[in-house]
Amino acid sequence: MSEPFLQLRSVSKSFGGVRALAGVSLDVEQGECHALVGENGAGKSTLGKVLAGIHVPDRGEILLDGRLLTLRGPADAVAAGVGMVHQELAFCPDLSVAENLALGRYPRRLRFLVDRAAMTERAQALLARIGCDLDVSRPMRTLTTGQEQMVQIAAALGTGARILIFDEPTSSLSEGEAERLFELIAGLKAEGVTMIYISHRMPEVFRLCDRITVLRDGERVGTVPAAATGQDQLVRMMIGRPLEEYFPRHLATSSERVLLRVAGLSSPGRFSGVSFELREGEILGCAGLVGAGRSDVATALFGLDRRATGQVELDGRALPLGRPREAMRRGLALVPEDRKRQGLILMMGGRHNYSLATLDRLSRFGLVRRALERREAERSFRELDVRTPSLDAPVAGLSGGNQQKVVLAKWLARDSRVLIADEPTRGVDVGAKAAIHGLLDRLAQRGVGILLISSELPELLHLSTRILVMREGRLAGELSRQQASQESLLRLMAQGSRAG
Ligand SMILES: Nc1ncnc2c1ncn2[C@@H]1O[C@H](COP(=O)(O)OP(=O)(O)OP(=O)(O)O)[C@@H](O)[C@H]1O
Ligand SMILES: [Mg+2]
Repeated sequence: MSEPFLQLRSVSKSFGGVRALAGVSLDVEQGECHALVGENGAGKSTLGKVLAGIHVPDRGEILLDGRLLTLRGPADAVAAGVGMVHQELAFCPDLSVAENLALGRYPRRLRFLVDRAAMTERAQALLARIGCDLDVSRPMRTLTTGQEQMVQIAAALGTGARILIFDEPTSSLSEGEAERLFELIAGLKAEGVTMIYISHRMPEVFRLCDRITVLRDGERVGTVPAAATGQDQLVRMMIGRPLEEYFPRHLATSSERVLLRVAGLSSPGRFSGVSFELREGEILGCAGLVGAGRSDVATALFGLDRRATGQVELDGRALPLGRPREAMRRGLALVPEDRKRQGLILMMGGRHNYSLATLDRLSRFGLVRRALERREAERSFRELDVRTPSLDAPVAGLSGGNQQKVVLAKWLARDSRVLIADEPTRGVDVGAKAAIHGLLDRLAQRGVGILLISSELPELLHLSTRILVMREGRLAGELSRQQASQESLLRLMAQGSRAG
């Protein structure tokens, strides 16, 4: 019997008083795609970062090819052949793709001159290896998330990575980009690259991975072969009980009263001529490929796009564009897509982040009523099962999914008439996802009009009364709940986007 390729032995890691990993042991075979799943805060990202040398474990050891691996920093991991594909920007946004791919090791000519031609050639070769043709002179910040990810993968392989760690790689990819990533992963697997794949999306875990390890509260619950495991069983391992993933949705037809009327909404270079109506108690879905303009419409409706033109009526009265405070005062709420950048103040505690959106309601004579704020934050965090050491712990230290929940709690706390939710369940675990679906449904029953932007078609199909489809900055169509299916939506989303 040969030794396992990669071995973790009783690895522990705490942050302050929080035990992120509590004695985790794990074997990974060479060339296998090994999934890490578990609830928000289970320790998945921490485990990935320990392997990538970003976190130094408090206890335990890591063996690669039978040899003890000492990782004092990311450079040690790179030297050992471990690369991580991050969610956050891992590059210098203003440097070109070629420069980023060369970082730290510019080809030199005459000792000090950077050899641009050699740098460009090397970058092109690295990208070609993964079948990606991209103009390497483009600045990094002009790339889509999918392209940036390709550059990260190319960079890791360029430094000789034999183990690649993916942390929720598809959470901001379009369907097409995700598909390309899956094909690349299959190709790399065939070449013998070992992969650790962290995801909340069960279908892709089952499609890509050979074995699945479940973490819960920093401990390993078990490792199972993907082919012999059902989704229900896996979810039970994750949350320790069976889950009704899909609560019975409320099928009440919405009232005829129009809450939000949008006519000819346009923004130069982003989208044009968007018109629709949202009724009381309705969940109006919005489908489209990444880049179709859905989030741009959302931010414009909320008043964050100064160049937007068109007519918007809220509750029968005109809503001036470009005035977010006015929009909020009138009862419009936006759960933004890019929550890290727009939704949270990372250094502040969860409670304060929570109360930012409700300040006007919670304050009297200009003072925040602390007791009330604390009570409401507690209730709302409980409802969404936010795992935080305390209400005042900085949200920067929360796991990705728990940060999402704080933003959601914050916006859902407002007494809104209309809620625009942009990818509300991105990055949250199965249990929280069901809780959020239930919450949206309850809000709709109370009469709130909800515009639900989502890239997960099952989510849209499950919750929406009607679904709008956007394509290249325009409304491409609208489907009723009866007409809508995965196929009909995909067809509308993609139609003619290349050829015609
Ligand atoms: N830098 C940090 N400082 C303080 N606490 C942290 C830090 N990083 C992680 N934690 C805590 O460690 C625990 C595990 O977090 P981790 O990010 O590994 O979870 P996860 O499984 O990746 O969750 P998610 O699915 O939400 O991304 C959480 O309780 C989190 O709050
Ligand atoms: Mg994580």
